[in-house]
Amino acid sequence: MNYKNILASQLIAQLEGITEEAIAELIEYPPNPQMGDLSMPCFKLSKQFRKAPQAIAEELKQNWQGHPAFQRVEAVSGYFNVFLEPAYFAKNVLGEVLEQRERYGAQNIGQGRNIAIDYSSPNIAKAFHIGHLRTTMIGNAIYKIFEFLGYNCIGINHLGDWGTQFGKLIVAYKMWGDKSVVEADGIDELQRLYVKFHDEADVKPELEDEARAWFVKLEQGDEDALQLWKWFVEISLKEFQKIYDLLGVKFDSYAGESFYNDKMAAVVDELKQKNLLEEDEGALLVRLDDYNMPPALMIKKDGGTLYHTRDVTAAIYRKNTYDFDKCIYVTDAGQSLHFQQWFKVIELMGYPWANQLVHVPFGKVSLEGAKLSTRKGNVIRLEELLTQSIDKIRDIINEKNPNLENKDEVARQVGVGAIIFNDLSNNRIKDIVFSWEVALNFEGETGPYVQYTHARACSVLRKANDGASIEFDVQPEQLDASLLNNVEAQGLLKQLYLFKERVEQAGMKLEPSIVSRYLVDLAQSFNRFYHECPILVDDAALRQARLALVKSTHITLRNGLALIGIEAPEKM
Ligand code: ARG
Repeated sequence: MNYKNILASQLIAQLEGITEEAIAELIEYPPNPQMGDLSMPCFKLSKQFRKAPQAIAEELKQNWQGHPAFQRVEAVSGYFNVFLEPAYFAKNVLGEVLEQRERYGAQNIGQGRNIAIDYSSPNIAKAFHIGHLRTTMIGNAIYKIFEFLGYNCIGINHLGDWGTQFGKLIVAYKMWGDKSVVEADGIDELQRLYVKFHDEADVKPELEDEARAWFVKLEQGDEDALQLWKWFVEISLKEFQKIYDLLGVKFDSYAGESFYNDKMAAVVDELKQKNLLEEDEGALLVRLDDYNMPPALMIKKDGGTLYHTRDVTAAIYRKNTYDFDKCIYVTDAGQSLHFQQWFKVIELMGYPWANQLVHVPFGKVSLEGAKLSTRKGNVIRLEELLTQSIDKIRDIINEKNPNLENKDEVARQVGVGAIIFNDLSNNRIKDIVFSWEVALNFEGETGPYVQYTHARACSVLRKANDGASIEFDVQPEQLDASLLNNVEAQGLLKQLYLFKERVEQAGMKLEPSIVSRYLVDLAQSFNRFYHECPILVDDAALRQARLALVKSTHITLRNGLALIGIEAPEKM
């Protein structure tokens, strides 16, 4: 049930000339419950109806017919305020949550349409660092949110597995590499070789030419080059996979940049045919001066392709393969220009779907305190960060709940959840400073806090069943919802009700933080209720009504956490 829509349908008769949808969009949730549970500001209607806002509000009040969902209405300072009928509201919300369970909050807005999401996409032979966590978890959340909204999602890991850097790596490995060291140290060693290449090339610039030549060989399918490249990819993927397993992230496709190697020539031809390519000192580029952007370089003077070439080719391939409604790219804001440039190239090629390409940028992560940069290098490796977080949480559990059965499992769920939540708790475009104290605080606006609240709800349910399970089998119709009229219960019900709306907003704004912030609000409402309202009371009717609220909180917290890629342990 959607209360904004119900209210809009009640008001439509008085507000001729406006659609019901437009009315629903005007309706707000006042921050202060004394101003109603729903409120319609009449300021925007003033001009159209040639009346003062307060006069409109008064009229709405005079003509109010009443509806079982609403208890009373008021006209105050240009606002038409509406108060919910608490028992009706309680019965309705609990009914929906308890019936829909893991589908509570889901919708079918997408109607099965396809959305391709390009996220994570780390670079082969480079460390998976804390910045990659953001694209991975924002992308994963967008995937889950859209799936929940009824879209069919295709998750693509567009691996950075192609480009001149592989020429450099081949040269470096051939000159200074050792098979067994690479096998033992993996990406660390590959990175060391790569750094060494740059150090040496500073004094011996001819190394750069050699590297370019090797990359051209690779693009042409030279056996020796291909074999080494495949090996570098394999080693890197094995390390990435460990992280994906820890994070619980999966992809539908690992078609990285190399996948487009044999598909780029056709696209370059197409660009030529469409008269979009210009030669510039032997290189080929698309001029974007008219759009105030630097040109998009498509072919280098040695014939090699570029990041742009591969992205344009991949987009065309994806449109043909997945017939997407939207193709979303999650990367740091530093790449915004790159995406604007090649989105424009697709538009200039005459593809009407250029406007279905969406860049989802995010801000940088920095680390608080020097202790976090473990290695000499300045990037913190994600695997280390996750392992440290798990260890720290295990210590906390050992202190708080030493007898917990599956401690390691819970430490992983909470340790990883803390890092993910921290990453998703602010608007994605904001830069974030990582701090252990903030991320792991059980009392802050954190993952552990939300998970702990969820476990607390489970524990109440378990106690109600004498420790047997967290089931709650009472049919919503059998509940006396009028027993949930107090402020804390109503506050909690309102939060439960808001879930669906928040998920939809998070999808439309491509902003997973809307879900994480919602979860903190829900957890806080639950804790207020929990502290004010004893649940396992003798009065059977009251006990059941309150337990229904606890069960609904458990369901909604779990559903919400799942949307942002976080598990919900039942004990912690
Ligand atoms: N590999 C790139 C990086 O790590 C991200 C790729 C993003 N996706 C894309 N289609 N360009 O910065």
